[in-house]
Amino acid sequence: MYYSDDVIEEVRSRNDIVDVISGYVRLQKKGASYFGLCPFHNEKSPSFSVSPSKQMYYCFGCGAGGNVFTFLMEYENYTFVEAVQALARRAGITLPEAEISPQQRQEASLRQQLLEINKLAAKYYYYQLIQPQGETARAYLEGRRLSHETIVKFGLGYSNKFSNDLYQYLHSKKYSDQLLRETGLVTMDEKRGAHDKFWNRVMFPIMDVNNRVIGFGGRVLGDGTPKYLNSPETKLFDKSRNLYGLNLARRSRRPNMIICEGYMDVISMHQAGFDNAVASLGTAFTSQQASLLKRYTSEVLLAYDSDGAGVKAALRAIPMLKEAGLKSRVIDMKPYKDPDEFIKNLGSEAFEERISNAKNSFMFEISVIEKNYDMNDPDGKTGFYNEAAQRLLEFSQELERKNYIEAIARTYGIAFDDLNRLVNRLGLKAGYGDENIYQKKNREAAHEKASNREDAAVTAQKLLLTWLSEDVRLFDKLSGVIGPEDFTDKLCHEAAAAVFNEYRQNGTVTPARIMNLFEDKQEHDAVARAFHTNIYDDGDMASREKALNETVRRIKMASLEQRSRSASDLKTLQEIIQQKNSLQKLHISL
Ligand code: GTP
Ligand code: MN
Repeated sequence: MYYSDDVIEEVRSRNDIVDVISGYVRLQKKGASYFGLCPFHNEKSPSFSVSPSKQMYYCFGCGAGGNVFTFLMEYENYTFVEAVQALARRAGITLPEAEISPQQRQEASLRQQLLEINKLAAKYYYYQLIQPQGETARAYLEGRRLSHETIVKFGLGYSNKFSNDLYQYLHSKKYSDQLLRETGLVTMDEKRGAHDKFWNRVMFPIMDVNNRVIGFGGRVLGDGTPKYLNSPETKLFDKSRNLYGLNLARRSRRPNMIICEGYMDVISMHQAGFDNAVASLGTAFTSQQASLLKRYTSEVLLAYDSDGAGVKAALRAIPMLKEAGLKSRVIDMKPYKDPDEFIKNLGSEAFEERISNAKNSFMFEISVIEKNYDMNDPDGKTGFYNEAAQRLLEFSQELERKNYIEAIARTYGIAFDDLNRLVNRLGLKAGYGDENIYQKKNREAAHEKASNREDAAVTAQKLLLTWLSEDVRLFDKLSGVIGPEDFTDKLCHEAAAAVFNEYRQNGTVTPARIMNLFEDKQEHDAVARAFHTNIYDDGDMASREKALNETVRRIKMASLEQRSRSASDLKTLQEIIQQKNSLQKLHISL
């Protein structure tokens, strides 16, 4: 069922966001906005704001944001259509029949239908588990010490011994073969016809952060190969961008996240009270997963298997986490293979202790390096110290480097001064041309600063979007100076085009309506942030004006710089230079 933009806008405008959210969160008025405790992350003091004028919410703590539809989608795990329907009901609006061409509907509803089928399949597998034919699977899960409550919480199921009964079931629900093939749950071939991908396996539905089933993992009951079988990548299921268990872990009250290798590890950790555990989905950890985690936490604990493969996986993940701006530590699972076995044997208290003793990930890397050397042999020892010193050069900040030198000196029984001298000598020697390692670090830092300057331009664009939405008189004042084309950031550009367009047509700006132009959750958060950028304001007009002019100048400068990079003829370049010069003289008064 799809609705036209007008209908959607009608539903939105007749559901005041403060009213709707007040049904879920206790809000208190503070200035022009309402504040409360964010329902999307744990916090003690309110950073979740709801703006009646913008009809949007935004959390300054976790960055979640959007309009009234987004809120219900996030909070109730509704699809967009479900959110529209619920709010229409709430406002007493009768929704019309769909007004869109069948082809458009089909395109747009493909994802919707795939979600629907996955949900049905998950229910079907669960039903198979609790029926008599699920006996062996139930016994298997019991043998792995999973409680009934845990089974229900994770929606575990069983794909039975018939090779096409899921297909028959879904077929009876009138889904086309074409569509069923797209779920990855069914394969068709000419000889055998349609058959199920999974049979005689314990089933693990994989959910996205909104609790929607996007794929499945299936484990053999006992020994057999392959041990785990996973859904193929589909229109819904992108393994590199999701984490198993994140839908639950994101609501955890613990201060960090635990990342491990397996489905069973996640489940037993949750059962033991470690409800912050997630796993990458049978593939190596990716940088997208690191950034996904960054949205919910600032520290990650690695609980990978204690075997060689697990250590290797941890060594790969650590730099990615660092890159994403996350702190990390490594949990030692020995003498057990993985968190599941550890907890089964030693219990949750012992695991809690391992968490508090988790090793700083740099020290973990060093301990792995040490194993390559024979520390009883003088040459081995020298080799190890040299390699450790080499690694210590990674820290360009002196204090940080000193702290690590000290930690290594203490752990491996070498005098601080000796190791410090070794590090400095290597630093000077590891020259790149005339540049020694620290100079190189500085150059890199300068480079980073340059890219931060680019970010500053994006911040300015967001700031101006906020400003324009709060004070429409600015449109006239900025006319001829700045237009949507000056917003160089892709998302800001789309939002700006919509903002200018709405102002031109109606003389108003409705950020909550602009939100409808964006589809995915990440975009909603980013757009909401764009409309909630803190405006520099110490109350006095002169400083407000100064801030506005700086913002405008920064945006225009970035836009001109971008144009000059792509300019191909001299005339355009000269024109750009002239514009840059006149920018210095620009003054907009409030
Ligand atoms: P249990 O034996 O059930 O405790 O599994 P485990 O989690 O200890 O398994 P293991 O450490 O062997 O594997 C960790 C994760 O890798 C699993 O949860 C799967 O996601 C994935 N995996 C393991 N075996 C296979 C396999 O044969 N094929 C695929 N595609 N993935 C696998
Ligand atoms: Mn295991």
